[in-house]
Amino acid sequence: MFDFLFKKRELLPLPYKRELHCHLIPGVDDGSRSMEESLELLSYLQKFGVEKVIFTPHHTSPRFMNTPEIIQPLFSELKQQAAEQNIQIQCEDFSFEYRMDDSFIELMQTGKYGDPKCQIRPLHGKYLLIENSFSHPVPALDKLVERLLSDGYYLVLAHPERYLYYCGHHGRFYHNLQEMQVEFQVNMLSFAGYYGDVTKKMAYWLLEQGYVNFLGTDMHHLHHCELLEKFLRSKKYAEIYDTLCDSICNDQL
Ligand SMILES: [Fe+2]
Repeated sequence: MFDFLFKKRELLPLPYKRELHCHLIPGVDDGSRSMEESLELLSYLQKFGVEKVIFTPHHTSPRFMNTPEIIQPLFSELKQQAAEQNIQIQCEDFSFEYRMDDSFIELMQTGKYGDPKCQIRPLHGKYLLIENSFSHPVPALDKLVERLLSDGYYLVLAHPERYLYYCGHHGRFYHNLQEMQVEFQVNMLSFAGYYGDVTKKMAYWLLEQGYVNFLGTDMHHLHHCELLEKFLRSKKYAEIYDTLCDSICNDQL
């Protein structure tokens, strides 16, 4: 009689088919710890409607000094095992989530986009996924942004809603960054409140402003999958689903 009270809401898919921010390369950062875990996380992405993945392990000094040489064999192995296990996801490519620290600046000085000697590996095309420290702003960010743009990159700032030092100030930092042509990638779980109320509020504010250019799961582990599934079944998600689909460019990269 009261079955309807316990019935799960329908699982709506993610509002995109290309994931471009996740930590599923095994054993190289604070994401997946093994090939088995990576395959399980990939299966969840498939369940959530993802068809293509660009993997983005951390590039953060000194903790995660990942290079293309380190990631390439792991990426190839994961791609092969996913195919063998009949996971219907195209492991499209890998890049990095570049923390804007000294080692990134050093890397940046090796060459511009397109130079054979350039060691930066962008997302598909010229897009670069960059992130700030969570504890303090990047010094002279505008100069760094100008330099990267003039070097030929398009910039995608990962989870801008999570930098609490940018919140407040009437959104000035966000307006400035968008004016400088920096695009924003908001985390899906921010809308669910996973990172706290301030971050949640910022995610919705960015959406209202039209500043959500890309979305990502920033998936690290199984707990993220479980929470995301819960959110994808929620009434709140159903309410913002169309707006999210209309706002983002994940599938047009
Ligand atoms: Fe990340």
